[in-house]
Amino acid sequence: MKATAVARANIALVKYWGNLDARLNLPAAGSLSVTLAGLETRTTVTRGGASRDRLMINGDAVSPAALTRARRVMDAARALAGHDSEPLLVESVNSFPTAAGLASSASGMAALAVATAGALGLELPPEQLSTLARLGSGSACRSIFGGFVLWRPGSRPDGSDSHGVQLHPAEYWGPRVVVVVVAEQPKPVSSSEGMALTAATSPYHQAWLQGADRDLRQARAAIAARDLGSLGQVAQRSCLRMHANMAATDPPLIYLTSSSWRIIEGVQRLQGQGVPAFFTADAGPNIKVFCEAEAEAKVASEMGKIPGVKQIIHARPGEGAALV
Ligand code: PMV
Repeated sequence: MKATAVARANIALVKYWGNLDARLNLPAAGSLSVTLAGLETRTTVTRGGASRDRLMINGDAVSPAALTRARRVMDAARALAGHDSEPLLVESVNSFPTAAGLASSASGMAALAVATAGALGLELPPEQLSTLARLGSGSACRSIFGGFVLWRPGSRPDGSDSHGVQLHPAEYWGPRVVVVVVAEQPKPVSSSEGMALTAATSPYHQAWLQGADRDLRQARAAIAARDLGSLGQVAQRSCLRMHANMAATDPPLIYLTSSSWRIIEGVQRLQGQGVPAFFTADAGPNIKVFCEAEAEAKVASEMGKIPGVKQIIHARPGEGAALV
């Protein structure tokens, strides 16, 4: 009647920004990410725990919009289980400070997919759990898997082949991720709204999508060679081109703040001193800095000195989602 799952956030090195089908979160291009130990969501789903669907995050009921999004995952799982109208109580807790603007929908929707399937008695292969998680948030399909993960866009209109694929497990390579938190509010425009606006109005959008295959090839080769320098080259390029495409949206989507740019400059200073590190950022102002393990302390201490930095969180490649 009840199941608990843990899932971790992921950070994309080759970014996802654009859907072919916004209802099913079917992406217009592939993306590649690392699942992060250190940023965890733990979710319990209980059958018969409420008279209608309820979703609590860290003890508070979520907004109707957030519940609607989660219900895409819950409804799809209920349809598979043949329990169409059974209400579910979902209780979710983030291990990382939720107020830090890192309450990733990826870990949340991945944990929700695994816990809902578990509570309904479904035994699904990870690919199918990944397609379920994708319905709640595209990037969540990657958090079902640990380590280095590719999201293949797939070609079936029903999305059944649009899911994550593990390229390498977490223990394959252990670069560190220094998460530099500068903002504690949720982003003003959600990713799904934002990417729809970009696709409709940015003159750069086609060029952005056309770069994805080359970025994916280069990122895969860099990971296969455990080459942080060339991975950084492609990851920074993918990140900045995504943000350029966002900024070219009408009205503009500007997620990076002056603090974000100060951190990017700080990473470039470290690179100039020969420190193996690179930056990336998603649809928000917080910056994630990848570095070799031996550079982690130096990177964290330099980042901590930059005005506007509120908090530093240490992460590294982690495991996929699982029932506990
Ligand atoms: O999964 P969503 O809808 O939150 O979109 C995520 C988009 C980015 O985080 C900006 C990029 C990515 O690939 O994760």
